[in-house]
Amino acid sequence: MKETQIVILDFGSQYTQLLARRIRENKVLAEVLDFRTSAKAMQNFPNLKGIVLSGGPSSVYENKAYQIDNDFFDLGLPVLGVCYGMQLMTSVYGGVVELADHQEFGKAKLYLDDFDNKLFKDVPNEKLVWMSHADHLTKMPKDFIKLAHSDASVAAIKHKNKDFYGIQFHAEVTHSEFGNQMIKNFIFDICHADPNWEVSAFINKAVAEIKAKVGNDEVILGLSGGVDSSVAAALISKAIGSQLTCIFVDTGLLRKNEAQKVLKTYQDNFKMKIKLIDASKQFFTALKGVADPETKRKIIGKQFVEVFNSEAKKLKNAKWLAQGTIYPDIIESSSPDHASKTIKSHHNVGGLPEELGFKLLEPIRDLFKDEVRKVGINLGIPASMINRHPFPGPGLGIRIIGEVSQEKADILREVDDIFINELIKADLYNSVDQAFAVLLPVKTVGVMGDNRTYEYLASLRSVNTIDFMTASASHLPWEFIEKVVTLIINNVDHVNRVVYDVTSKPPGTIEWE
Ligand code: XMP
Repeated sequence: MKETQIVILDFGSQYTQLLARRIRENKVLAEVLDFRTSAKAMQNFPNLKGIVLSGGPSSVYENKAYQIDNDFFDLGLPVLGVCYGMQLMTSVYGGVVELADHQEFGKAKLYLDDFDNKLFKDVPNEKLVWMSHADHLTKMPKDFIKLAHSDASVAAIKHKNKDFYGIQFHAEVTHSEFGNQMIKNFIFDICHADPNWEVSAFINKAVAEIKAKVGNDEVILGLSGGVDSSVAAALISKAIGSQLTCIFVDTGLLRKNEAQKVLKTYQDNFKMKIKLIDASKQFFTALKGVADPETKRKIIGKQFVEVFNSEAKKLKNAKWLAQGTIYPDIIESSSPDHASKTIKSHHNVGGLPEELGFKLLEPIRDLFKDEVRKVGINLGIPASMINRHPFPGPGLGIRIIGEVSQEKADILREVDDIFINELIKADLYNSVDQAFAVLLPVKTVGVMGDNRTYEYLASLRSVNTIDFMTASASHLPWEFIEKVVTLIINNVDHVNRVVYDVTSKPPGTIEWE
């Protein structure tokens, strides 16, 4: 059975992929296409059931406003305009959109004006929705009726005779109460899509796309052992087999026995070509004397580039660099498509291919973490690998605060290993989302036996989070923390004090650097 589809025309909103994700959560395939796509191109989507026009940063009244091919409105398909999408539809149908005196950002009350329409089926009258707009509708488009309003603006409209809907708010954001109900109403009651999209369909499509893109070229991929690069590797390996070479760089900043564990897992479960490169000396030398976090990240990223470069030269046909970039990486690192501020420069995003002359292959860049995990399980990656906490590209390099050295990395590896093993033993590992240890560049005084000690301070960090954008410290049992701290101090040389970090994100970040 061929799955039904919804097309989302992307006008540049930060929430476009979230819209796609919400539709996928309802088991309907959502394709995100550039807003310049022609209506004629919809011939390529034989099971298309509806069109969503995303939000976006432009204003419809500007000269350079992003336009839509008006033939989209003649396809006989339902259309849902969200925020800018609604304003665009308003302007196409002769309504007026202007800069609002009272701009709405954040939660706003939504009141229904029409209680008998499909979009608001099973949605109560008064509810909170998420608004993010400076412009608003001041004159209704021809043949449209108002379905809902907020205290400041027209919040939902519908064409009298056609299934054209517009919402000023973002139903796709979880803060919008009944948002998912409205999305369900649109895709099922209005578009009549079938809930038959599965992760396996994503995999088949991704495999076909990778094959078509790569042809006979070779691809290299930096395998970190984390979920994202592993899933990308398994997917690419399924598509092109031995044309993929994975490079696993031992930076000296990995967890204890990490390289061996990762190699064993992938060699046992997949027939992947993996080259283990021990570059630890190179990394430590490059990091000597450097304490600034962003400089350390840049150096580590640059060393990766050098290692890849020299490995890539050995592969004659290697034209592609594959990365396990996922959607939240793109948002946090900011990219030309997304004008969000750079918080930290995640080193697997941007920069690399330009310097290397590679083309970039990012097969899971539109997925969210939980979707990546589902894809991984479906591809046969062991659950123990898939459910591992994320480990940042710069590794222990950003968990050794200040200057990095081999000695400090060895200490931190032991501290981290005890903490993680104890979490697993106590059956707590899967109830927290990311746990790790941090080594501080300060020594404190202690007493062991009858002797004064003067050794390093370490911190344990464990957070609970849904999307890693915000997080809170895990409420680990006090007895557990005490036990781990005792084990660390008794077993790891050069650490005589351990603290537990209870800072949430924001104001903190998950990593300390
Ligand atoms: P922060 O510290 O920004 O971390 O709150 C959010 C999530 O991102 C991970 N992280 C990174 N991952 N390269 C990565 O691949 C990086 O440079 C990087 N920096 C942070 C962090 O471990 C957490 O899961």
